Amino acid sequence: MNKADQDYAQPLGLDVGTSRIVAARFIDKKYQYESQLNAFITLPYSALAESMLRRDNVFHEVRHGEIVVAGDDAAKFAEVFHVETRRPMANGVLNPREPHSLPVVRSIVAKLIGTGASAKQKVFFSVPAPVEGSDNSIAYHQAAVGQILTDLGYVATPITEGLAVVFGELAETNFSGIGISCGSGLCNVCLAVLSVPVISFSVSKAGDFIDNQAALVTGDLAIRMRLEKEKSFHLNGFTGDRVHDALNVYYQEVLVNLVQTLRRQISSAERRPSFDQAIPLVLSGGTAVPQGFLDQFTKVLRSHELPVRLSEVRLSPDPLNSTARGALMAALC
Ligand SMILES: Nc1ncnc2c1ncn2[C@@H]1O[C@H](COP(=O)(O)OP(=O)(O)OP(=O)(O)O)[C@@H](O)[C@H]1O
Ligand SMILES: [Mg+2]
Repeated sequence: MNKADQDYAQPLGLDVGTSRIVAARFIDKKYQYESQLNAFITLPYSALAESMLRRDNVFHEVRHGEIVVAGDDAAKFAEVFHVETRRPMANGVLNPREPHSLPVVRSIVAKLIGTGASAKQKVFFSVPAPVEGSDNSIAYHQAAVGQILTDLGYVATPITEGLAVVFGELAETNFSGIGISCGSGLCNVCLAVLSVPVISFSVSKAGDFIDNQAALVTGDLAIRMRLEKEKSFHLNGFTGDRVHDALNVYYQEVLVNLVQTLRRQISSAERRPSFDQAIPLVLSGGTAVPQGFLDQFTKVLRSHELPVRLSEVRLSPDPLNSTARGALMAALC
């Protein structure tokens, strides 16, 4: 956070994601973003190591006899020390099996947004919508992140991630349409009418599912699958390359599962909206980034016709910041 960010007293948007935490600010009539990986590593404490890290300005804390390196620096130092990064969150919420989860999220959030500049500074933070048929502790997650923000001096309001995408991407249709964020732990979906969420849900097959499943069938580490996927993967059918083909299979499974669940949720909704006009659908999130994603999604959609008419299906121009921007736009309203 630089000096301008410290002085910033306007509303903030915060995307608290399984993989990345992103802060959005509106400065000089422009949206500005800052992000950190939502990850950490631990090292045994030694005074020398600690002073080296401090000297090099590495983002770390000493806790219970360990050095905890967090955020983007965790990935850098994981390579240096040959250790695996750990994550405070899993499947869109704080990981109950990770004792460091809450303190690490607290320090990353504090690094990104600091303390509130006034007693009334607003922050809207993303939370996942419920996963069909599972209680994945959203209430606890929401309360815990809300408390972190209150302790930092903000007036905190949760917003479901799909609705944030609607705010961030669908201003032209008066915030009516379907917003989808395909992230790391979850895909979050919201169908909204005039900014009011009518159907919200999430599905648990997303980026991490692709990495883990591809790792199982190739015998590699999930982190290697993830790096390959982020570096050079295109959704363009089978190529004969083992890793590429495995990623392709599980990408397809994610897309089919997402579209089938979307269709089922709209068909069975008690308050199913009746639209006079067709509505847009917008895709965002890191999992939507690879080339070919939109084409493949559209193909799957054609074979599972939805019970609403779509005017267009498009990709966010800035998929990694869409949720944070939407949370900020909601905070500015
Ligand atoms: N260029 C890329 N190509 C392919 N996948 C990518 C790319 N960049 C990021 N990803 C994948 O996107 C996912 C992270 O996306 P995102 O930052 O939207 O998730 P998140 O918001 O942290 O998670 P969630 O919303 O599920 O809690 C990871 O699975 C990551 O591997
Ligand atoms: Mg997300």
